[in-house]
Amino acid sequence: MQKILFVCLGNICRSPLGEGIMLHFIEEKNLENRFQVDSAGTAGYHINEAPDHRTIANAKKNGVDISKLRARKFTPEDFDAFDKIYVMDESNYGNVLALAQNTEHKNKVDYLLNVLHPQQNKHVPDPYYGTEKDFEAVFQLVYKACQKIVETV
Ligand code: 4NP
Repeated sequence: MQKILFVCLGNICRSPLGEGIMLHFIEEKNLENRFQVDSAGTAGYHINEAPDHRTIANAKKNGVDISKLRARKFTPEDFDAFDKIYVMDESNYGNVLALAQNTEHKNKVDYLLNVLHPQQNKHVPDPYYGTEKDFEAVFQLVYKACQKIVETV
C-alpha cells in the first residue's frame, strides 16, 4: 500500500486533479489495496471549498469527476501519514520542506513531474490566472504523471 499526498498552493486547481485522477485509475483498475490518496494546499484560503469550477469542468470533459473533493491545508502530521508527498512547483516545495522535522520527512517530498522527468524539478504551472488552455495543459501533465505512478505498481 502506497499512501500518496498531492500538494499545491490552494488545493483547488492542481492537487485535487492528482487526487481525482488517481481515484479514477484506482476505481478503473481495482487498485484499492495498492494506493491511498489525498490532496492538500500549503495555504488555507480555500479550506472546505470544492475545486475551482474551471478545474471541475475541464476534468469532467476529460472523464474525471472531482466535484466532491474538498480543500484542506497541509499539516506537519501529513509527513507521518503519507509515504510520498508530491508538490507541483518550487514554492510548494519550499513551503512543505519548511515544515519537515527530519530527513525522513524531507525524503518523502518530491516534484510530481519528477515521476516523468527524474531530477528535473519541472513545475506544474498554476493555472489560476490562466485560460481554458492552461487548465487543459495542467490536466494533461497531472494525468500523465498519475498514469506513470499507476504503471509502476
Ligand atoms: P492551486 O491554484 O494551488 O493549483 O490550487 C491556486 C488556487 C488559488 C490561489 C492560487 C493558486 N489563490 O491565490 O487563491
